Amino acid sequence: MESVTTISPGKCILFGEHAVVYGYSAIATAISLYSSCTISKSDHETISVNLENYDKIYEFMTLNELASSFPEQFNQIRYLFMSLHNKFNLNFNNIKITLKSSIMPGSGLGSSASTAVALVSAFNEFYGLNLDKQGISEVAFEMEKIVHGSPSGIDNTICTFGNSIIFQNGTYKFLKMHQDLKFIITDTNIEHDTKLAINEIKTLREEDPKFVNNIFRNIGKLSKAAKRELIKGNKKHVGELMNRNQNYLSSLRLVNQEISKVINTARMFGALGSKLTGAGLGGCVITICKDKKIENIISQLDKQGFKSYLTKIDNQGVRIEKKE
Ligand code: PMV
Repeated sequence: MESVTTISPGKCILFGEHAVVYGYSAIATAISLYSSCTISKSDHETISVNLENYDKIYEFMTLNELASSFPEQFNQIRYLFMSLHNKFNLNFNNIKITLKSSIMPGSGLGSSASTAVALVSAFNEFYGLNLDKQGISEVAFEMEKIVHGSPSGIDNTICTFGNSIIFQNGTYKFLKMHQDLKFIITDTNIEHDTKLAINEIKTLREEDPKFVNNIFRNIGKLSKAAKRELIKGNKKHVGELMNRNQNYLSSLRLVNQEISKVINTARMFGALGSKLTGAGLGGCVITICKDKKIENIISQLDKQGFKSYLTKIDNQGVRIEKKE
């Protein structure tokens, strides 16, 4: 094989972020924003890694050199090389890797998981490793642990399998969300740090376990109730559950001024529900409303400098886009 390109969707957590890290249910949907990875044979004996979003190209003479000098910021990529070397005895000479993503890092839309999944899948295809989707997701999960500390695994799962899922304790079930449901995703323009947010919740839980565990239990119940409403397509009920979920996230101190501004604007112009999505303290907000209100809410948010995007579900998950 000369070259392979894979793509993997981004994601949006509809219900249950943070509680999912502690074993409660959460719901996520794959969205049609993509990360892609191309691996090609090259004439040079080197290993070349082009990280387009960071405007960086790294070139290594050997795997040893890669192991000792790959920048720490991308430790998860170094880990992947070394882990595939140990498991499959690969040396990676004469290859050129290009990674790019249309998902902003720190936006809560799964840029790191989606990039990891695309990269693992490209290695899988290029070297014939025979991993199935579950296997790809598991390797991407190991990479996610390096980036985020103790993630739940929901991000790598949804980016691998696509569609919408209800996820709990490492296992998932697909859920067929009603086709009429669309969510407005709005960027607060504040990059968030998932690892930091997870750690802050961990500290809060150590300080007041009763309070935090009680919130998590309630969020878990909301996710289960939301599953039924998402299938039925009852926007009003979905919106109410989103607002309740948001209140809990607010009690966990995950809301900042920009998140509040977006949510208040959306609600002022007729949203049925609005909440942060992902780790919080920045990132994105999701909103549900009647179809006739979508345009105005998006335009009102735009006037305040917040760009929005209307969800389109990705039904396939990671896949091969091109092979030569
Ligand atoms: O903001 P993101 O996309 O990194 O979302 C992380 C969601 C959390 O529940 C906070 C963490 C996790 O691994 O589930």
